[in-house]
Amino acid sequence: MAFPATRMRRLRSTASVRDLVRETRLGPHDLVLPLFVEAAVSGANGRRAIASMPGVDRLSISAAVQEAGAAHALGLPAVLLFGIPEHKDAEGSGAYDDEGIVQLATRAIKDAHPELLVMTDVCLCEYTDHGHCGLVRADGAVDNDASVELLARTAVSHARAGADIVAPSDMMDGRVGAIRAALDEEGLVDTPIVAYSAKFASAFYGPFREAAGSTPAFGDRRAYQLDPANGDEALREALLDVQEGADVIMVKPALAYLDVIRRVKDATRLPVAAYNVSGEYAMVKAAAAAGALDERTAVIEMLTSIRRAGADIVITYHAKDAATWL
Ligand code: PBG
Repeated sequence: MAFPATRMRRLRSTASVRDLVRETRLGPHDLVLPLFVEAAVSGANGRRAIASMPGVDRLSISAAVQEAGAAHALGLPAVLLFGIPEHKDAEGSGAYDDEGIVQLATRAIKDAHPELLVMTDVCLCEYTDHGHCGLVRADGAVDNDASVELLARTAVSHARAGADIVAPSDMMDGRVGAIRAALDEEGLVDTPIVAYSAKFASAFYGPFREAAGSTPAFGDRRAYQLDPANGDEALREALLDVQEGADVIMVKPALAYLDVIRRVKDATRLPVAAYNVSGEYAMVKAAAAAGALDERTAVIEMLTSIRRAGADIVITYHAKDAATWL
């Protein structure tokens, strides 16, 4: 039946009826807060600002413990840790050092807030002096299989330090299977893997690289991260990671890839995470500061859209603000 029997506006007429028929819910329990922990920063007030990301700082371990506590108090289920080591080298040895910055921060956060989930980013780019996500061969290419071994070592080291969930973001082939096997061999059979399966070579990682000092010293990441033009290829990556034992599939960035989120959700039926990345955050902050949009409304709209597209979990630097508003 069409108009006038059908009036779509009937279900939009009041806030209560809109609330009743809302299809997508967004709450603090859907959101994960990324934290940058930096070895060179110390003290309870130890914070170092990130110019393009107002409201996000690089933290000392004790500041990270505080920030994690604040996240937990707001109802966020998890934080995602990134480490910035004191020294970087060609092999990214800080990544799989049992006394590395992420390992130390994980122990400290789990001690203070045992119920908060600690998820760790597993990659070499924050730890290598060349900024690539794996080992670089003499010819300048990133060596897939040798990198996978170090990534598996890193994941085991994080899990041994108490990480509840490991999240490989390097985009090497076969790393999810290798990490699963390495964890299982250590008896860490219950540590889930959130695989950054569909991670695109994106301009939107710019502020993160400033924060982590991980801009590649030469070349770019297009020989391992996905071409933004390719949706079918993203799906193949996701399906392969499912075969290799991924527990959750991640799509990243989120806003320019909502179609990929939906396709991955439909094809895998696994829990899907979407990463609302640093550049997406920086855009909103800059536009809000310029008076071009209302930050609160824009953030809720974006996070809701990411959920509507099919994401069960949204990783976002807006998590604390959003949790306060919701
Ligand atoms: C590490 C990694 C990156 C991000 C998450 N893990 C950077 C990159 O691939 O260059 C980006 C996160 C963000 O932009 O917020 N490989």
